[in-house]
Amino acid sequence: MTPDALIYDIRPVFNSDEDDKAADAEPTAAAHIDTSDIKHRVLKPWILPTANDFIADTALHHLRPEGNPGSNFAFVQPDFDDSNWQSITVPHDWAITGPFYTGDNAVVGGGMGRLPSPGVAWYRRSFTLNAADRDKAVYLDIDGAMSYAMVWINGHLAGGWPYGYASWRLDLTPYLLSDQPNQLAVRLDNPPASSRWYPGGGLYRNVWLTKTNKQHIAHWGTTITTTDVSAHQATVHIRTEINNRSADNVAMTVKTEIYPLDEAGAVTAQPVARLKDITVDARASGKTAVIGKIIINNPKLWGPPPQQQPNRYLALTTLWQGENLADQYETRFGIRDIRFDAKAGVIVNGQPVHLQGVNQHHDLGALGAAFNLRAAKRQLLLLREMGVNAIRMAHNPPAPELLDLTDEMGFLVINEIFDSWRRKKTPLDFHLIFPDWSEADLRAFIRRDRNHPSVIAWSIGNEVGEQYTAEEGAAEARRLHNITQQEDPTRPTAAAMNYAKAGMPFAGVMDIISLNYQGEGIRDAPAYAHLQGIRTAPAYASFKQQYPDKLILSSENAAAVSSRGEYFFPVNRQNSAPVADGAGGDPTQLQVSGYELYSAEFGSSADKVLASMAQHPYVAGGFIWSGWDYLGEPTPYYQARSSYFGVIDLAGFKKNRFYLYQSQWRPELPMAHILPHWNWPDRVGLTTPVHVFTSGDEAELFLNGVSLGRQKKLPGTVRLRWDDVIYQPGKLSVKTYKGGMPWAMSTVETTGQAAALSLSADRSRLQSDGSDLSFITVEVLDSAGRTVPNANTLLSFYISGPGKIVATDNGDASSLVSFSATQRQAFNGLALVIVKTLKGQSGTITLQAHSSETSSASITLNSH
Ligand code: GAL
Repeated sequence: MTPDALIYDIRPVFNSDEDDKAADAEPTAAAHIDTSDIKHRVLKPWILPTANDFIADTALHHLRPEGNPGSNFAFVQPDFDDSNWQSITVPHDWAITGPFYTGDNAVVGGGMGRLPSPGVAWYRRSFTLNAADRDKAVYLDIDGAMSYAMVWINGHLAGGWPYGYASWRLDLTPYLLSDQPNQLAVRLDNPPASSRWYPGGGLYRNVWLTKTNKQHIAHWGTTITTTDVSAHQATVHIRTEINNRSADNVAMTVKTEIYPLDEAGAVTAQPVARLKDITVDARASGKTAVIGKIIINNPKLWGPPPQQQPNRYLALTTLWQGENLADQYETRFGIRDIRFDAKAGVIVNGQPVHLQGVNQHHDLGALGAAFNLRAAKRQLLLLREMGVNAIRMAHNPPAPELLDLTDEMGFLVINEIFDSWRRKKTPLDFHLIFPDWSEADLRAFIRRDRNHPSVIAWSIGNEVGEQYTAEEGAAEARRLHNITQQEDPTRPTAAAMNYAKAGMPFAGVMDIISLNYQGEGIRDAPAYAHLQGIRTAPAYASFKQQYPDKLILSSENAAAVSSRGEYFFPVNRQNSAPVADGAGGDPTQLQVSGYELYSAEFGSSADKVLASMAQHPYVAGGFIWSGWDYLGEPTPYYQARSSYFGVIDLAGFKKNRFYLYQSQWRPELPMAHILPHWNWPDRVGLTTPVHVFTSGDEAELFLNGVSLGRQKKLPGTVRLRWDDVIYQPGKLSVKTYKGGMPWAMSTVETTGQAAALSLSADRSRLQSDGSDLSFITVEVLDSAGRTVPNANTLLSFYISGPGKIVATDNGDASSLVSFSATQRQAFNGLALVIVKTLKGQSGTITLQAHSSETSSASITLNSH
């Protein structure tokens, strides 16, 4: 029972929250819901009509029942005194500052990140419309509200949307008052046990009030596709939907101009094309679509760097009633041709592009789920540095601005919508709303995102339980596949399969074959032989045989685990092993070895995945699980708060694996990376393996100037290993070669004690807009200025000037120190401070760091 009893629906009772259930456990059937004891009114019937625009069969549209539930509840009243409520700015995540739940039977366990995301919260805001708005249509556009949103305006329940990752629009017009304040009240209700990762809580994406004339371009009202694309010419097709909210048919004219955009997304040039004006009788109280097309000569194509450039265009649509401008609407798009070839893989503008991808969850580490453009861009920039060219949005629609970034930066995106369908992974996950909402969620998702050039495919599900239910599951897949094709016939469908085999009914439904882990084989190598669970021999070949004309990709691979800067001995001699206590994992420290040889039980090391990819050249590439660490799912240690899967840790610091992938994905970049660090006072005289990642093909290792041998990379391997090195302090260095020529060098040295701190900012010139961020890396140094790789020094931070410390972190998955703390230990030599500017306040911001073991340090930033 919830405190205000305004529930969306009755939820099933459950005994276990299944917080630490294995990721590859078989999803189970929905539980029976007992409605015999309903004491509350269920509001679902008043919320469902919000979905009507996205339900194709009008006979299935929901009728709003009589009545106005919740209208007498205090928080929805205009005169309710909310002066002692917390004042916040959206995007807002109510749970991220914690505190973390600790202990074994915590209210929220490690799976959902140990943060207080479950529960009910209310948001209120009042606004006054001016006289000019009197005849306008007014909408509330919500980019994402976590979750089960229900909205009251001036005491009227206007609607809502349960899926927390969806973007949706509510029409407020019928309930608005002019010349006096309008009171908006939003109720959110996050169920416990509703996710396999940290969902966040609140109005965690942007929220807009959109005011239009009665005749306007409809919500997500343009659809742009390109055909016959070449360097000489392309045809751009634009469908524009007019929404006429008046009671009369009105003659309206649609004009469209196309402008090139510069790299930053600005219009700096004249239009390159102007479509023929289209005049149409826009029908009363309804929508009318018009279709136009135009040929663009010598188009600047959109494609992924480094081979291609992500050029973009803007379609500026204006809607006219006679001489009067009724509406103006901007659509950013790209001109590109993408083909999916069973042999050559993804072909962009005629060029094959091997997918060097990662999976990304929606959180932004210490900032939580609250979307921030700068934080998202930092994630992408680091991935790009590693050589990543593709992102899979695991497992839900991203913030719309994230797709603007992938468009701008030229990543290829698999856009995914669901982690579960009718069958469930956790007791109160999306399966509860799937029967009522799947069609509307899917259509809304595609209509929102189909103009993004970066989106190359729609994934309708991740490892869903319907893989296991033969023809019944396949029928569900077919229904979703068909909807997707109706909304966007230009892109293929996918559904990630970790269980369905070639030939099973489910596997053949989608346009492309999207395999999680089974491509390289699950629990397949000798080191995995003793484990229970799904076991699969490498499966690429069987899918290839069964579906010779379909493109095959690896939507998830690796699920390798590690903690930055941690190393445990002895080191496995095989190239992939499941992590276990005492074998790659330390259950007391809750850390996993950074030798990068260990994986989840169903996973494989990067080495094994890359070798298998190389053996199957027809596979279009794949997506690592995962690019960055994320909140929740801390396999193998659920006492922790965040994952160990990332190639980059939660704070944004590179693990060794970063260099492993970089050596493969940026072969032209001269680089070499040595592991482990060389501060092992307790290991003098003990065997301490040294491994090297390099884009070269040969390397010689030296310890204190003495050669430990020169090695060549063996075919099918990505690391060079010297497993019998006997530790002595000093200097370990590597000289690498490519084609016999000197290529790159690297050194690690035994350092002294912590003596000093250094602060460095990713950006020191900031905008005083109240959302710009600087990410400041704190390094603990010895007296010679070298980073002390095992320093866990306690640090305190102070800020002055027009900025605030919004979060701190150190990438330690086991740390349960609140992200808002201004005191934090370094983790293996590093910590992170995130500084945000204050809106409208410019000047110099100074951040100082102190510790009792070292001298202090400071850095200045400028906010303009
Ligand atoms: C997969 C799943 C991901 C994540 C990953 C690592 O099975 O699709 O969401 O759970 O395993 O555990």
